[in-house]
Amino acid sequence: MRDDLARIMEGFEAECREVRDEPAYGLLRERYLSREKGLLTLQLKRLRDLPPAERPAFGQEVNRLKAAIETRLDELAGQVRLAAYQDRLEKERLDVTLPGFPVARGTLHPVKQVEAEICGIFQRMGYAIAEGPEIETDFFNFGALNFPPDHPARDAQDTFFIGDGSFLLRTHTSPVQIRTMQAVAPPLKVIAPGKVYRKDTPDATHFPIFHQIEGLVVDEGVSLADLKGTLEHFARECFAADARIRLRPSFFPFVEPGAEVDVSCFFCGGRGCRICKGSGWIEILGAGMVHPNVFDACGIDSERYTGFAFGMGIDRVAILRYGVPDIRMFWENDVRFLNQFHRF
Ligand code: DAH
Repeated sequence: MRDDLARIMEGFEAECREVRDEPAYGLLRERYLSREKGLLTLQLKRLRDLPPAERPAFGQEVNRLKAAIETRLDELAGQVRLAAYQDRLEKERLDVTLPGFPVARGTLHPVKQVEAEICGIFQRMGYAIAEGPEIETDFFNFGALNFPPDHPARDAQDTFFIGDGSFLLRTHTSPVQIRTMQAVAPPLKVIAPGKVYRKDTPDATHFPIFHQIEGLVVDEGVSLADLKGTLEHFARECFAADARIRLRPSFFPFVEPGAEVDVSCFFCGGRGCRICKGSGWIEILGAGMVHPNVFDACGIDSERYTGFAFGMGIDRVAILRYGVPDIRMFWENDVRFLNQFHRF
């Protein structure tokens, strides 16, 4: 019977070497240690067949064997668990150096990119961003801006009126000047970007919706020289480090004096080319000193305060900057067009 126990141990050792995974381990444990049918239980049951004198010694042998088997099984459990874990690591191995799947990314619309860039230039000069509604009244879009009642810009041929005519789609961002001056006492320094609307027939250079940025500075002692210095700095930041500007006298009802502002051509440096039509200058802005009537309409003391204002078309800047041949491309949302304006 002792030999039987030795054989059991040998068989057990051999079986241990075959165990590779947790199910096999479970079966092995069951086979040896199960309370009802385990091989060791069977050995203990044989005690009955032995003469009483031999029982204690054999019983001790079986228990020693059982303890050895339990120790070995516990050790094996650890090995099997570790092997299963390593197996899983191997199966789930990831090569993090493989290229990823391309993800289609959107991009800011080119007009919005230029808008953000222009806003940034003025924000770095201390300007705040102002906003106003796209649906306006005659007062904010024309009246308070010193347009006389019979001014042709009010013509239904140029302006989109809404309903019975009490509302309209703003034709420029200048009404934000009025809203800002009514809301905030000077000193103030704002820019107002946004969409504006005019009844234009679409062609390569016209579209009934476009974008402007308005600028307004009001304080004591603000002069035309401040306007010129500000716009020159803007031109150098936006177009070319050596850009120059020139002011040509012009008329807008809400400024006096008023000017059209040209920037030296940033394609030819001012020598004259196809883009600037040989003149060396590109017209970019309207500007001027805030008209006293405009201050009056906003309840600002025009004896104490002066100010300058300017306005420019963003789409036009984007067209020049990127050489876009047709303004309608900005509205077609053709991804082959838009994808050319990715910025990383
Ligand atoms: N509002 C004008 C336009 O739409 C542009 C403009 C001209 C704005 C002169 C100004 C300015 O603030 O001073 O054509």
